[in-house]
Amino acid sequence: MSTSRDATAAASLATDAIGQRLEPPVDATALARLTYFRGRVALEAILRGLGVSAGDEVAIQAFTCIAVPEAVRALGARARYVDVEEGSPNMDPGDLVRKINERTRAVVIQHTFGLPANVSSLGGVAKEHGLPVVEDCAHTIASRVDGRQVGSFGAAAFYSYEASKPAFVGIGGSAVANDVVLAAALDADYSRYEPPSAAVQLQLATMFLAHKAAYRPSTYWTVRSLFRSLVSAGLIRGNYNDMSEPSAPGPDFTRRMGAIQARLLHRALALLDSQTAHRRWVGEEYRTRIRARGVAHFPVSRNVDPVFGRYPVLVGDKSAVLDGAREARVELADFYATPVHPLKGEKLRQVGYEPGSCPNAEALSARIVSLPTGPQVDRTQIQRAVDFFNG
Ligand SMILES: Cc1ncc(COP(=O)(O)O)c(C=O)c1O
Repeated sequence: MSTSRDATAAASLATDAIGQRLEPPVDATALARLTYFRGRVALEAILRGLGVSAGDEVAIQAFTCIAVPEAVRALGARARYVDVEEGSPNMDPGDLVRKINERTRAVVIQHTFGLPANVSSLGGVAKEHGLPVVEDCAHTIASRVDGRQVGSFGAAAFYSYEASKPAFVGIGGSAVANDVVLAAALDADYSRYEPPSAAVQLQLATMFLAHKAAYRPSTYWTVRSLFRSLVSAGLIRGNYNDMSEPSAPGPDFTRRMGAIQARLLHRALALLDSQTAHRRWVGEEYRTRIRARGVAHFPVSRNVDPVFGRYPVLVGDKSAVLDGAREARVELADFYATPVHPLKGEKLRQVGYEPGSCPNAEALSARIVSLPTGPQVDRTQIQRAVDFFNG
């Protein structure tokens, strides 16, 4: 268990790390060390290691997935939503300054879609307030800023291994600590997490195999509706847990990764370098070839090297574009469709999001769609996506 002295020490080490390379890159060995049932469980473990507890606040960005505030709530803490920067899917440093208060204990910086966040400004704000940074690397393992890999800027980073993430094992997550005090706290705490039962591991392995067999960009829409039907029938695990009751954290938060998923992770990480090269190529193809009027790309600053987990574009009439893509059998995802996906309207309050409070995130949710970049995307699929947009 970490004490508040540990947390203070962790915070100072973390903030000292900003701007200096203190740690080796996040590689397969680092990612395979502390593995959890899901990415959100890894985040919860990191926040607990940093001393976050009931009544505290954690700054996270709006334009995220419900899993992130779920991890915060699992500790009895509250998510404080920071808007995204205009023209970016990532956290706005100016709004972070406004949202930090005396209860804030940590800042989660999300590298949305693999486009790196403004780590120097955000890290600078966190440092000024003596707050540790946790990087949300669910969408990218290999993106870089000034030649340095994401996940190495903060006190710690976490990763996710569900479908459409950079490495896929069914479901799963990892924590990587860059801060020695926090690393020791995570190691000491790891024994509290039990492996899932054999039945759960087999269920996840079946999901993995079924997805591998059935999913291609051209089958995306069919696989997606089948997945949703199976989740509704309670036959497989969905991405989103029910957050309507402010109850104790569910069993996911007591589990580490099981042996079957760990083996799949080992295999997936061995392919990471070649898949990173592939994702870079696919992202660049979309960026240079999708040129339709009314479709906007996010600007990429010179100092960043993004490896897109999915390639995002902004469109005018999102629902018409999604309908068209479904008809043309072009894979196009709608997330994040809301500031805390998939909650809409008043339901956003279940996770402490005040509708209207992050206008940039809300405007972005209404315009964003994203294309796949994974190993199943080939030249034909790229061409179909380009033709779909360019007409
Ligand atoms: C940005 C982001 N962070 C965290 C997560 C949580 O990952 P997991 O589903 O492995 O808990 C997700 C999942 O979709 C995500 O998109």
